[in-house]
Amino acid sequence: MSSRYGRNESLIMLSASGPIGVFDSGVGGLSVLRHIRAQLPDEDLIYFADSGHAPYGSKSEAFVIDRSFRIADFLLSQKIKALVVACNTATAMAIHLLRDKYPDLPIVGVEPGLKPAAAKTITGIVGVMATERTLSSNKFHVLHQTLNDRTGVHFIMQPCPGMADLIEHAELDSEPIHALVRRYLTPLLEQKADTVVLGCTHYPFVRHVIEKIAAESGCPDLRIIDTGYAVARQLTHLLDIYAIRRGKTDCASAMQAYTSGDPKTIGHLIARLLQTTMPVAYISL
Ligand code: DGL
Repeated sequence: MSSRYGRNESLIMLSASGPIGVFDSGVGGLSVLRHIRAQLPDEDLIYFADSGHAPYGSKSEAFVIDRSFRIADFLLSQKIKALVVACNTATAMAIHLLRDKYPDLPIVGVEPGLKPAAAKTITGIVGVMATERTLSSNKFHVLHQTLNDRTGVHFIMQPCPGMADLIEHAELDSEPIHALVRRYLTPLLEQKADTVVLGCTHYPFVRHVIEKIAAESGCPDLRIIDTGYAVARQLTHLLDIYAIRRGKTDCASAMQAYTSGDPKTIGHLIARLLQTTMPVAYISL
């Protein structure tokens, strides 16, 4: 095996019976996992919530890259057959490095849905809500420039510091989350955005708050773009290409979560966000 950032020379054996690894800075990636579970009900899933190190959005690039490698290494030790980086920030910072290091592993990332937003907007003005780190990344800059050149759509960047953190603390309908969403959404609506991209996997869990505030502000038809479904579809496609999609089995598929935060808190959040339970274990990495 080579260094942390170098290419992994050991052969990764991909077996159809292996689990799929999914990770995020915290519980945000569960908004992607729920689509994976719906589209691939026979697959075993391992979720890693890096809640002990969240939020990623305000951390340095080197920090997010280092966490992504540690988590990917851990998930590979659990014999995953595919990796889903269910975090826009980690995708922007680290997915190219993960693909370099693990060339044999199918890896799917998440990026803000600028393309579907450009296809949906009527005013030609789209708001992009995401972390500071995602919006300042080179990967996002290239995506933005390409879409802007190709479609002429005007994208307004709205960094949303503090939002993922509140969601991480189960503030899904509280006064603080309403106030923060209002603060970030209002300038977008005032600039006539008719479409808003959820560029952080935590935000779909407060979609109802975004819809409510948009309606109160006279924009009840605001289009909201969440890429969770598309990510699960891309994963399905990759499993088929690699011929490692799990067929129907007699035993039910399993889900297991790990966290660098408090397993009890994460267990409660999983129950609340997904209406299901799964074992959650602590691991520091
Ligand atoms: N859920 C993550 C994302 O999609 C990161 C949020 C954070 O930790 O700041 O960007």
